[in-house]
Amino acid sequence: MANNLDLNPEDRILDVSAGTGLLAEAAINKFGPFEQYVVNDPSSNMLEISKYRLRYKVNVEYTKHYAEELPFDDNSFDHLLCLNAFHYYTDQKKALANFRRVLKDGGNLWLLNWNRVGLFVIANYFIKLLSKENINTTSLDEMKVLLADSGFSIEKEEAWGYRWWRFFFLKCS
Ligand SMILES: C[S@@+](CC[C@H](N)C(=O)[O-])C[C@H]1O[C@@H](n2cnc3c(N)ncnc32)[C@H](O)[C@@H]1O
Repeated sequence: MANNLDLNPEDRILDVSAGTGLLAEAAINKFGPFEQYVVNDPSSNMLEISKYRLRYKVNVEYTKHYAEELPFDDNSFDHLLCLNAFHYYTDQKKALANFRRVLKDGGNLWLLNWNRVGLFVIANYFIKLLSKENINTTSLDEMKVLLADSGFSIEKEEAWGYRWWRFFFLKCS
């Protein structure tokens, strides 16, 4: 994800499910510091680790919201980052509607997630069966339909595998 990103210091960025702040650290090191980098995650534990990891970074803010319930103003961000998290969202259409709303016109949504295709369909079935969390993995094709229905266009896409795991990356506007 970090290798694909193309960001500028004057950007306002929302890292929707930032987890422990690994992507934030990579993005800030490569392109920052930014005008604003919001590290968002509904998990307090994840945010605590992020805060420690990013303790020397400037213009970083921490928020604790679900992707489905983002409270930010319309057109607030130049970029939205969503790494390895979309399959956890319980209401994916609502999350995308929020993404569209808070993203500025001409801004980008950068999305990397599991791709439920091929043999990974079987692996994902067992992950879903055994996981306590909501797992609702889409294929790349299903994701593209969801995005189009939410008013996004695809600028760049890539799909690949690592062993039997499958992933996709999308840059959307
Ligand atoms: C596998 S972690 C990925 C974290 C980080 N993006 C990374 O790749 O290192 C998934 C994250 O999604 C968050 N998450 C789960 N449900 C969410 C929701 N409905 N809205 C926003 N984030 C959510 C979790 O708290 C967790 O931090």
